[in-house]
Amino acid sequence: MKILHFLLLSLLVTTLVLFHKASNVYARRHHHISNKQKNNKTLAPLISPVYAPARSPDYAPSIPSDPSYGPAANDTTATSCIFDVTDFGAVGDGDTDDTAAFKSAWKAACQVENGVVLAPNDFTFVITSTIFSGPCQPGLVFQVDGVLATPDGPDCWPESDSHKQWIVFYRLDNMSFTGTGTIEGNGQKWWDLPCKPHKGPNGSTLPGPCDSPAMIRFFMSSNLVVSSLRIQNSPQFHMKFDGCQGVTIDKLSIFSPKLSPNTDGIHIENTKSVGIYNSLIHNGDDCISIGQGCADVEIDGVTCGPSHGISIGSLGVHNSRACVSNITVKNIIIRDSDNGLRIKTWQGGAGSVSGISFENIQMENVRNSVIIDQYYCLTKACRNETSAVYLTDVSYKNIKGTYDVRSPPIHFACSDTVACTNITMSEVELLPYEGVLVDDPFCWNAYGVQETLTIPPIDCLQDGMPESLAENVVSTGC
Ligand SMILES: *[C@@H]1O[C@H](CO)[C@@H](O)[C@H](O)[C@H]1NC(C)=O
Ligand SMILES: *[C@@H]1O[C@H](CO)[C@@H](O)[C@H](O)[C@H]1NC(C)=O
Ligand SMILES: *[C@@H]1O[C@H](CO)[C@@H](O)[C@H](O)[C@H]1NC(C)=O
Ligand SMILES: *[C@@H]1O[C@H](CO)[C@@H](O)[C@H](O)[C@H]1NC(C)=O
Ligand SMILES: *[C@@H]1O[C@H](CO)[C@@H](O)[C@H](O)[C@H]1NC(C)=O
Ligand SMILES: *[C@@H]1O[C@H](CO)[C@@H](O)[C@H](O)[C@H]1NC(C)=O
Ligand SMILES: *[C@@H]1O[C@H](CO)[C@@H](O)[C@H](O)[C@H]1NC(C)=O
Repeated sequence: MKILHFLLLSLLVTTLVLFHKASNVYARRHHHISNKQKNNKTLAPLISPVYAPARSPDYAPSIPSDPSYGPAANDTTATSCIFDVTDFGAVGDGDTDDTAAFKSAWKAACQVENGVVLAPNDFTFVITSTIFSGPCQPGLVFQVDGVLATPDGPDCWPESDSHKQWIVFYRLDNMSFTGTGTIEGNGQKWWDLPCKPHKGPNGSTLPGPCDSPAMIRFFMSSNLVVSSLRIQNSPQFHMKFDGCQGVTIDKLSIFSPKLSPNTDGIHIENTKSVGIYNSLIHNGDDCISIGQGCADVEIDGVTCGPSHGISIGSLGVHNSRACVSNITVKNIIIRDSDNGLRIKTWQGGAGSVSGISFENIQMENVRNSVIIDQYYCLTKACRNETSAVYLTDVSYKNIKGTYDVRSPPIHFACSDTVACTNITMSEVELLPYEGVLVDDPFCWNAYGVQETLTIPPIDCLQDGMPESLAENVVSTGC
């Protein structure tokens, strides 16, 4: 049945190719087709120039023999199929809603191995909130070489669309999101909503709801690669991974202004085996945030700033259990940021944060350079409780640079009832960016060792282990 279907498609491709050849109206990778055909979504996939070769070697020759077919002329592409959104009716003029074309291209690419959804350069495509879902054949690539943009602000956001997310990739395995292009979030009008902090009349903040869409979400997916793209001006979080396994992020640039609210760069939760490499993040909230249920995360070669630094948490909200383990953060530059390396938990949680290593971190003018805050609270009205997420085996090694003197550079505020244990500090040397330190380093109920003396010196880290430790460890449940 499938084969028959395919043969029919192939026949149609041939017919079209011959038709276009005869009428001599097509240029390289760009087809002049009648408006009627252009709007015909059932026809569109068939004229994708490289659709056929992969699966049909005996049939294909008529296409590869024509050099104007570009990539198809090259035998090495025989294992991939490119589904150019412009062949599916996308206009790419920065104004037309191209959602339907992207959906059709996705649907077609999803069905073949190594399918490529291509948003080519020199176009600006606008699409509305869309879920690109699987399962798909392995090796799927969503490649943006042009600009892929959100509708321009809340007034252009279709009322019926989710206001919490824009693009969602769902239930995919072995998929890449890449390209030399830009993902544009047009965030300004969202950041200026009167429900955003101090954006109301006379600097007030009007009551919500104040949902703004996260730009790119990956949900319940595995073996993902996200690379090379520039992702900018998100209305809210730029990228979110939830319930994923096996994520590699490489060479991304994320850009939003310093004062854009809630524009976290990359947020992960319930996600395991993650590598974030060689990326540049400049935004108005956490550079990278790691939520509950994450393990085996490596962050290497990332520059953050301005931003709110790299954050583990917040964890344990509403007495929830959080388990975070084996997180390595190394070779990082953090500049002009409100926080540097932060672990934050609410009072009353459960679970643990363990095996955290921060190594080779350069700070430039960073407030709260090294901070553990187990009293995290948005309203200042949180009560102290008797349970907390347990923090242990946290190491800081070779953390150097300058801090903003408005906050102490080292601050370990651990829970009253559940101490932090085995904090290791070595080669931590932080100097004021300008002015002089007002507050001394601070520790509360924090146990650990200084392998080398820190600058500024801290004398508040306690030796050994607290007596109540055994109880804590048993109760984490991770
Ligand atoms: C679209 O293409 C299909 C299949 O060739 C055809 O049956 C249908 O009439 C076309 N519709 C339009 C609007 O051109
Ligand atoms: C196919 O493309 C590759 C890489 O771009 C190139 O090295 C190779 O020579 C090409 N082969 C043909 C037959 O054009
Ligand atoms: C998909 O699987 C292939 C073959 O195992 C592998 O080479 C490739 O790296 C995988 N891609 C992703 C995005 O995981
Ligand atoms: C803003 O403040 C000015 C001066 O205090 C006042 O006259 C005006 O009524 C205020 N506007 C609103 C909307 O509160
Ligand atoms: C820790 O995470 C890394 C990936 O970041 C992984 O390679 C390693 O096996 C993990 N270690 C343990 C003990 O699970
Ligand atoms: C909670 O405990 C901390 C540490 O003992 C203390 O500094 C703080 O004042 C307490 N907060 C409340 C609301 O009791
Ligand atoms: C303390 O943490 C380090 C990792 O930071 C780990 O290698 C070491 O085994 C831990 N020590 C104890 C006593 O658990």
